[in-house]
Parts: sequence; structure tokens; C-alpha cells
Amino acid sequence: MTKQRKIIVANWKMNFGVKESVVFISKLKRLLTKKEITKQIIICPSFTSLFRVNQLIGKSSILLGAQNIAEVEQGTFTGEVSAKMIKEVGCQYVIVGHSERRQKLNETDNQINAKISQIYKNNLIPILCVGERELEYRKNLTAKIIDNQLNKDLKNIKINKKQKLLIAYEPIWAISDGKSAKSQPTIEEIEQTHKLIFKNLTKKYSSAIVESSCRVLYGGSVDVVNIKQILQSSLVDGVLVGGASLKVEKLVQMSTLV
Ligand code: PGA
Repeated sequence: MTKQRKIIVANWKMNFGVKESVVFISKLKRLLTKKEITKQIIICPSFTSLFRVNQLIGKSSILLGAQNIAEVEQGTFTGEVSAKMIKEVGCQYVIVGHSERRQKLNETDNQINAKISQIYKNNLIPILCVGERELEYRKNLTAKIIDNQLNKDLKNIKINKKQKLLIAYEPIWAISDGKSAKSQPTIEEIEQTHKLIFKNLTKKYSSAIVESSCRVLYGGSVDVVNIKQILQSSLVDGVLVGGASLKVEKLVQMSTLV
């Protein structure tokens, strides 16, 4: 798992309409041509920008992800967007279970579980976010919370060697408000939680599948100043970046740092 290229997921959240996305991606492609890209870049724009961003990234090494999908296949669900629809516009990945959706939109583990089923049915790859709140962290409940989320979110989800499963450990208290960074766990704490995630996955899937298919990312105030240290750990397969991914120069810097 550590021999593969590390991953950088840009989670744009509810920022950038089509025009701004086009400006960003055009500049990103231009800047990246002059550099050596050391990470697998996955850009996750808003639904409305997906089609256009897909056209723009074309056959470049940038991959596309959505920030959410519906938990059902199709039908009378006004305002929802299905896995099949985002697949049609070029997505390969879907962020699922982000804490902002869990907390602000009351998304439940049952819904997240149903979304992951939809993701695999449509040959997409989930980026499942898990993480504890500040109080839970202070009460030493991180392991319990993460295990519980993984058990519920991945209930009855089978994967084979050809499929991929990305887990993003995102302590809720470390996620920035989009403007300024928050305090972060130490690298030892991140590693401890990543170990626990791998252990949990090994109870669900064979070691061979975990080795070939599962990768664990870290997210929460990742920026140019701390990405290198975080990615130095062999237990961290990549990062999920919010606020800092909105600045094209920063994203370029983070994607090209060794
Ligand atoms: P942040 O966001 O990098 O702005 O902390 C990360 C995330 O919420 O995915």
C-alpha cells in the first residue's frame, strides 16, 4: 500500500461555480506541466461544475470526484443526484460521510452505508470520512467512535481485489472553517488512528484485500506547511484537503512536493 503514489483529494466544498472552476483548472493544468507531479490528484468540485471540469481535465492525470450522491438509485427524490449521474459526467470517486454532512445535514450511518452500496454498484470508489468530535477526543473515545462509524458505514459492504476503498480520517476538531487552520493531532496520534482503521478493515476483509484495495488518508487543516510531515508516515496514504485546496498555487505545491 505504501509503494503506490500518495493521494491528494481536493474537497472544494460549496465553493466555485462553473466559471471559477474553469479558471482554477486551466491554471492548475498550466502550472502542473512545469512540475513533477508526485501525488495522485483527485478534484471534488460542486455538482454543477463536474461536467465542465471533466471536459477540461480530459486525459490529464487529474481525476474527478463528487462530494456526495443520493442513497437510492433513481426516482421520486427531488433535488438528489444519483451515483449513475455523477459517473456519467466522468467521476471516479465520491466523498461520503463527511462530518459536515453528518453534523449539519444530519446524515446517518445508515444513509452513508446505502450510499456506499450505490457507489460500488456504479463502479465508483468511495472516500469514506470518519472522525471524532473534540469532546470525544478529549475523553479518549477516538478509537470507539471510529470503529463504530466503520462498522455501521461498511456493514455488508463486500469488496474484491479489483475494487478500491479510501478512508479519510478527519478529526472534526481539526477541520478548518475554510479560512484559518485548526489545531491538529500529533503525527503519532494520526498514526495510531490509522493503525486502528487498518485493523478494523482487516476484520472485515482479508489482509490481501486490505493490502491491495484499502488506503487511509488524513484530513483536517492540511496545508503546504504540514503536508510533508504528515505524508512522511508510511501509515498515511494521502490527504483530504479543504481550505488549502482552493488556492491553486498551494494545490500545485502540495501535489508536487516529494
Ligand atoms: P480543511 O478541510 O482542509 O479545510 O480542514 C478538510 C475537509 O473537511 O475535508
